[in-house]
Amino acid sequence: MTYPIQDIRKDFPMLHKTVYGKPYTYLDNSATTQKPQVVIDRIVDLYQNENSNIHRGVHYFSERTTAAYEQTRKSVQAFINAKYAHEVIFTKGTTDSINLVAFSFCERYVREGDEIIVSEMEHHSNIVPWQLACDRKKAVLKVIPFDENGELILSELKKLLTEKTRILALTHVSNTLGTVNPISEVIQTAHAAGVPVLIDAAQSIQHIAIDVQALDCDFLAFSAHKIYGPNGIGVLYGKEAFLNEMPPYQGGGDMIDQVTFAKTTYNTLPLKFEAGTPNYIDSIAFETALDYVRKIGMDAIAAHEEEIMVYATEKLKALGGITIYGNAKHKAGAISFQIDGLHPYDTGMILDKCGVAVRTGTHCTQPIMDHFGIPGTVRASFAMYTSKEDIDALCAGLEKVRLMFG
Ligand code: ALA
Repeated sequence: MTYPIQDIRKDFPMLHKTVYGKPYTYLDNSATTQKPQVVIDRIVDLYQNENSNIHRGVHYFSERTTAAYEQTRKSVQAFINAKYAHEVIFTKGTTDSINLVAFSFCERYVREGDEIIVSEMEHHSNIVPWQLACDRKKAVLKVIPFDENGELILSELKKLLTEKTRILALTHVSNTLGTVNPISEVIQTAHAAGVPVLIDAAQSIQHIAIDVQALDCDFLAFSAHKIYGPNGIGVLYGKEAFLNEMPPYQGGGDMIDQVTFAKTTYNTLPLKFEAGTPNYIDSIAFETALDYVRKIGMDAIAAHEEEIMVYATEKLKALGGITIYGNAKHKAGAISFQIDGLHPYDTGMILDKCGVAVRTGTHCTQPIMDHFGIPGTVRASFAMYTSKEDIDALCAGLEKVRLMFG
């Protein structure tokens, strides 16, 4: 079946804007994805016709929103093939999910002198929470390096794993390099050493079908807004055995069983980790986004985006005078590059005037910039609605940048 790109594009109002009188070309999808009209409508409809706090009232609309919220949990469970719905915790986003694990897991399992492993290509949100945990627990952070193509050096991982390693946290897809890491292999290697693994799926959930049971990852974190859903909510998947053992991350309503001044006992999963009124409106609307994605199909989306990745890479190389950072064999979602001799910020400013939205700078991955010894990159990032015309507009913009800067 032909990929219905034009039909898909019609569903996303933001793709039909003009800026500075030019058609808008949105290539900043790793930062956030645009929302289909059905998701926008669902949010409005929920506020207009159903709004009532969840898990609290016996009244009609509270029961409706509670049921819809728990239904979304089941939808997420199905989407990532978790064994139980209570292994799906709603959070504020990927960052919140990782901070939850970095706090609660480390409180339970990490002692002075223990070790935590991350990689050199992590987003700051999968570095700093572990540094904070290391400070708290007097533990040591170790780093898997990557090579000049932006691929993890897996032989180094084997050397880093010791009897003191307590957890390994790794991104599935690099938001800057686009590298798709061999997470299945990494998880097997870590498990063979008795080490659990957290996967940061912020940049893969929208591009690659994920099955947490097949992967056997212990934790998985992602944000709804990266996969066409609302902002401000995310998911932490965790294996029941770990989540049950971990202490709560935050205290408040809903996460308790009994409260007295002498002693408080906690709720069971998943509510033990969902203190306070959650963002139930956006969580419920997230189900509409997942339904939308499911109808198109993750495999069809991945195949389309792979075509866009190949097309964009070839077109950029054909321009000449451009350095691409990250040339892994398996890439998804994003291409980082620089026009030789130009600062990425200048390129981004001129592209903006051409109506082309890209991200410039360090992309919250300063260690990657340090690796290459550069101040930043220009990043074009893709989604299910990205077209070859978008890539052509980017390349036309880059020609203009070069003309302007001689
Ligand atoms: N982490 C997001 C990005 O890479 C915001 O742009």
